[in-house]
Amino acid sequence: MRASRYMLFLYAAMIGTPVLLYIRIFSLAGGMLLLSTILLALAAIGLVVFGILGYMEIYSGRRPEKMPLDIPVHYAPARHEGRFEGEGRSVTLRVARFDTESKMMKEKEYCVRADRLTTVLGALLAIKENDDPTLAMRYSCRMGICGSCGMVINGKPALACETNVFDSISNGKIMVEPMYGHPLTRDLVTDFDDFFEKHVSVNPGLYRKNGAEKYAAKKPYDQSRKEIDKFLPYSYCIMCGLCLDACPVVNANPNFAGPQALSQAYRYHADSRDQMGDKRLFDIDTVDGVWGCEFAGACSKVCPKGVDPAAAIQLLKGELFKKVATDEKEG
Ligand code: SF4
Ligand code: FES
Repeated sequence: MRASRYMLFLYAAMIGTPVLLYIRIFSLAGGMLLLSTILLALAAIGLVVFGILGYMEIYSGRRPEKMPLDIPVHYAPARHEGRFEGEGRSVTLRVARFDTESKMMKEKEYCVRADRLTTVLGALLAIKENDDPTLAMRYSCRMGICGSCGMVINGKPALACETNVFDSISNGKIMVEPMYGHPLTRDLVTDFDDFFEKHVSVNPGLYRKNGAEKYAAKKPYDQSRKEIDKFLPYSYCIMCGLCLDACPVVNANPNFAGPQALSQAYRYHADSRDQMGDKRLFDIDTVDGVWGCEFAGACSKVCPKGVDPAAAIQLLKGELFKKVATDEKEG
């Protein structure tokens, strides 16, 4: 008997038992006593037996029948290691590689086996492990936290560890390239010095007039829900650089501070604990600061943390307009 049928019998017994109970009660008055007692007893036994079998079916059915313990090394490591479905599927990755002889980028094709949990990072690691150990990429956490594995996947900046291979296939292939908006180091690795310089240039930190107070505060810096909500969405930035890569202005003008730095300027400006005043605001009141933004919105679209740098920049512009209006009023 197949396991799924147990549930049908269980349901039949669940409905049958009260019906037979009624028959049993009525038969007390009018004969058929023995027959109704036997039927009721059978239904009750069925309820218990199929109840147990049904319970076993539900709880055993949730586990995969075979848990492969010896995963062949040529499989791409899935995000949750140890869980592969069947034999997996073969996927082709076209990876941009730096050719040391011609000093040019060249595309190289690799084939890996993957299952529904395999990420692009997992597939790249499988290539590195089995086909070409010289493939260079940057990664650390494998869970969308460290922001190290940003690259361009099928033309879109994305975190490789957060991108499923089967969601990325286009024309039967997955194209993987280094980010365009950062100088190239090698293969899929780009240089972030410029990115961090821009980040530091907006004074990203909480400033107190009394510097020592931060380390010996007399009381907690209490904030209302409203005060927290003002900056909280912008504090989720993991500094992956994807927004900078997607920004058409940064790609055309490398001096533009860019969405990441500017969103962090707003994050600290909007924090009620910060006492820097307008200095941070005035530092970015330039054509390479907030006024460089053309509101393309690509930065917010690619951000894996939902930071919305485009909105932060418009809020900064609003703050500057408010400042000008107040200054004019005060004469
Ligand atoms: S704002 Fe978003 S896309 Fe830009 S660096 Fe931060 S987390 Fe990455
Ligand atoms: S490896 Fe850390 S975000 Fe992808």
